[in-house]
Amino acid sequence: IQAEKGGYKHFMLKEIWEQPRAIRDTTLGRISLDSGQVFLAEMGLASEDLATASSINIAACGTSWHAALAGKYMIERLARIPVDVDYASEYRYRDPIADPTALGLLITQSGETADTLAAQREMMALGSKTVAICNVVGAMVTRDAHGTIYTHAGPEIGVASTKAFTSQITALFLFALHLAQVRGKLTSAESLHLCEELSRIPAKMIDMLKAVSAQTERLARDFSNARDFLYLGRGIHFPMALEGALKLKEISYIHAEGYPAGEMKHGPNALIDETLPVVVLATQDPSDAGSRLRYEKTLSNIQEVTARSGRVIAIAVEDQEEIGNLVEHVISIPRAPELLLPLLEIVPLQLLAYHIAVRRGCDVDQPRNLAKSVTVE
Ligand code: G6P
Repeated sequence: IQAEKGGYKHFMLKEIWEQPRAIRDTTLGRISLDSGQVFLAEMGLASEDLATASSINIAACGTSWHAALAGKYMIERLARIPVDVDYASEYRYRDPIADPTALGLLITQSGETADTLAAQREMMALGSKTVAICNVVGAMVTRDAHGTIYTHAGPEIGVASTKAFTSQITALFLFALHLAQVRGKLTSAESLHLCEELSRIPAKMIDMLKAVSAQTERLARDFSNARDFLYLGRGIHFPMALEGALKLKEISYIHAEGYPAGEMKHGPNALIDETLPVVVLATQDPSDAGSRLRYEKTLSNIQEVTARSGRVIAIAVEDQEEIGNLVEHVISIPRAPELLLPLLEIVPLQLLAYHIAVRRGCDVDQPRNLAKSVTVE
């Protein structure tokens, strides 16, 4: 077992460090850095079905559900198709609306999650075609799906998902880009720019991993005794706040909640005091007007927290002096376009959860009461 961990103390840490490779492998052969074209013919669903879909329904569980939420932002922004995201365990029970013009999308690392398979059956019974994003070749979900996009994360052993998650985000980005191209929503210059930026992520992530490792370990020392944690984000960064909170609760057993930053005043503000660590996703792409605006709003949310003596750990892109003056701790990450920032910003949150769990003596790879794959409803 020690050998399988490749010198790392836990599978989870090994898998965190494998993410640049997993993202590269998931991208490999699927983009052209000459034309900006995305190739997903291997998926097996006719381009016509993608060109004519009137809406997309996504169902997933756990970490895969957080990837699905991020996928909604990507698909709606790039391809302008309305997207609904459901917990797979809820989908069948809400009398969902779907028909042959809607496309069903299932996101599942294992491809065997019972609720996700049941949601797929429901979508098909309503006449929708389905596409699976899956990490295991030949898994159950792929057998009924009309199309499959495989993630190439490789086997994931840690119960808390890391590299499978960032590979799902990568596959969703490719899918959104492909949909946008099939539907004529992007110029070739825009496509090329996004493909180039995606291809730069693995190298940026390697540099970042080296830069933030020791810092997250130090932060874990300061915060491992907290009773609760709050994670905040806006836009596509909100699902990353949810995922950061899930990582912490799964493996360290500290109660943590993810919240949209703008909702603080509708409840969570009441929780803030000097004992509450608040992790804020405060990244931005300064070249993107929407991203800049969201960032400005997030900065005012940070001020609301610090005014109440909350202890803020902010994740920000490099060289943001303003934020350094506002908060106690800043974790810097490389710059990237808005829709690709999630791939980078989730990594320090994974590491923070990991180091806190290790300090608390938890069984990081095998948390109590949890299973890697949930094959019962
Ligand atoms: C379990 C695992 C999670 C995972 C979820 C969905 O709860 O512990 O890590 O996100 O199942 O699994 P799936 O294989 O469908 O992505």
